[in-house]
Amino acid sequence: MNKDSAIGVFDSGVGGLTTVKELAELLPNENIIYLGDTARVPYGTRSRATIAEYARQDIAFLQEHDVKMILVACGTISSAMMYEPIFDGVSVSHSGVVKPTAIAAYKATKNNRIGVLGTSATVKSKSFENAIKAIDSDVEVTAKACPMFVPLVENGYTSRDCLPTKLIAEEYLEIMKKNEVDTLILGCTHFPHLSEIIGDIMGEGVTLISSGAELAKFALFELSRLDLFSSRHEIGTRELYCTDSVELFTENAATFLGKDNMAIINKCTLKI
Ligand code: DGL
Repeated sequence: MNKDSAIGVFDSGVGGLTTVKELAELLPNENIIYLGDTARVPYGTRSRATIAEYARQDIAFLQEHDVKMILVACGTISSAMMYEPIFDGVSVSHSGVVKPTAIAAYKATKNNRIGVLGTSATVKSKSFENAIKAIDSDVEVTAKACPMFVPLVENGYTSRDCLPTKLIAEEYLEIMKKNEVDTLILGCTHFPHLSEIIGDIMGEGVTLISSGAELAKFALFELSRLDLFSSRHEIGTRELYCTDSVELFTENAATFLGKDNMAIINKCTLKI
């Protein structure tokens, strides 16, 4: 395994860039290759078999590049991965968001009541719930599908005072408040963009856990464990690929990554 190979990261769209942003901060010298399958986003409303098939094609694309690790920066695909053999035959180290996030949430909770927000497919799969219960079966988990959040984020309805988003968020979060969760998993990598709105509704005593950021922290731990840190001293490259319009992706990517972190964006086609 070559230490100077890149870290491959993928998502159905721009959401996984929350992981890339965190990775670039934690591991600045690593090369990063990102794929956002923007032509087929959202995955979260599709069947598990379809999500798994799309994910295999995304992984095959990343494997055409020189990658030493593959990160699934998507709650929806990571949840499907708990049940479908998405990584069969892939020899490089890989991880989704579910386990690292479940561990972080368990460490954060004080009252043993954890909430999970995700896409419909994620919540239906009970992936986070099962991962938390595997750590401690006494934890109470409340999960809520938030299908409107992804389109709101993709269309820029993210500011703290955005009324439509606030109204929808209030409805989604009612059950979390009622069940008095003190830790709330943002189980979809798009959702950190609604952190201010979610935080305002839930109040200061509730810890928000970003699944994308937890995955980046896991990558740091894993590269150290495998002795695979890059030997490079200069800042690594960031190569971003999308499967639909580069213009649209560029606009969205700038919101996720910040203008200073922007990289060259290419359009690619996946082998289907
Ligand atoms: N970013 C994806 C996730 O984390 C959500 C978008 C989708 O539905 O494809 O679940």
